[in-house]
Amino acid sequence: MATSLLVRHSSAVFFSQSSLFFTKNNSFRSFTSIKMERGEASEEVNAVKTKKVFVTGATGKTGKRIVEQLLSRGFAVKAGVRDVDKAKSSFKEDPSLQIVRADVTEGPEKLAEAIGDDSQAVICASGFRPGFDLFAPWKVDNFGTVNLVDACRKKGVERFVLISSILVNGAAMGQILNPAYIFLNIFGLTLVAKLQAEKYIKRSGINYTIVRPGGLKNDPPTGNVVMEQEDTLYEGSISRDQVAEVAVEALLNEESSFKVVEIVARADAPKRSYKDLFASVKGH
Ligand SMILES: NC(=O)c1ccc[n+]([C@@H]2O[C@H](COP(=O)([O-])OP(=O)(O)OC[C@H]3O[C@@H](n4cnc5c(N)ncnc54)[C@H](OP(=O)(O)O)[C@@H]3O)[C@@H](O)[C@H]2O)c1
Repeated sequence: MATSLLVRHSSAVFFSQSSLFFTKNNSFRSFTSIKMERGEASEEVNAVKTKKVFVTGATGKTGKRIVEQLLSRGFAVKAGVRDVDKAKSSFKEDPSLQIVRADVTEGPEKLAEAIGDDSQAVICASGFRPGFDLFAPWKVDNFGTVNLVDACRKKGVERFVLISSILVNGAAMGQILNPAYIFLNIFGLTLVAKLQAEKYIKRSGINYTIVRPGGLKNDPPTGNVVMEQEDTLYEGSISRDQVAEVAVEALLNEESSFKVVEIVARADAPKRSYKDLFASVKGH
């Protein structure tokens, strides 16, 4: 498939860098061939399918919001969870929601089975749960995410959104003495683990959006989203509702491809469209 083909739809015009992209009207298209006839593009398009997104950490505070927002935006969702029964009681029944067992530490084969043949994108919202295992951040936030990327490769999933964190590259930003950087790395090198996973995603060839939020809040948004280049923000916070929105919008905006975006919310920031926000950040 050509890498920079101008593809036209009634609902969207975009350059397709991979064979797949999501359109604004919540349909998913797979382009089998595009023929040029009499100077006009005519398309042979596979049947439009409902988009299915696999979400890890779906029972987490951000993951649950991501699942709910995906469903409300018309996506089908496969929620990857460690405890299926617990998850069943935390989500309303929805024909578009499927709950499957997925522990990211159990390796790419099992994760590939969980992802199945019907997921077109993966959102990784898993993160270690504090406990006695000092290596948990490394196992979950580094190796677990790496396993998930490998599972995507096995299944031909071409779109990956990761919820990471600001300050993951704090040492390179001159923020080594930032209390948040020190605190988060004291517990199992959490930020270093996330940075390693980010590097793996970037090398993988998968179409990624790495979302690095500031401190997460359960409260509803109190300001507008500020989106910056990687290694720019070193303080600030954001509602988990907005983080979930950014993750979902990443799937809908071609401008988010192959980008790392840092996000916080600020009361004095102007309201901007996600297309604009993603476009304002340089890609790789
Ligand atoms: N807290 C902050 O201020 C902050 C700031 C920036 C970025 N972040 C990052 O943002 C992400 C979401 O944070 P959050 O606070 O909303 O998450 P959270 O509520 O702590 O949820 C974490 C999720 O990860 C799942 N998980 C843990 N170990 C797993 C494993 N081995 N396999 C599969 N899933 C596993 C948990 O499953 P169970 O429900 O089964 O335990 C849970 O669903 C995390 O990556 C976090 O590091 C957090």
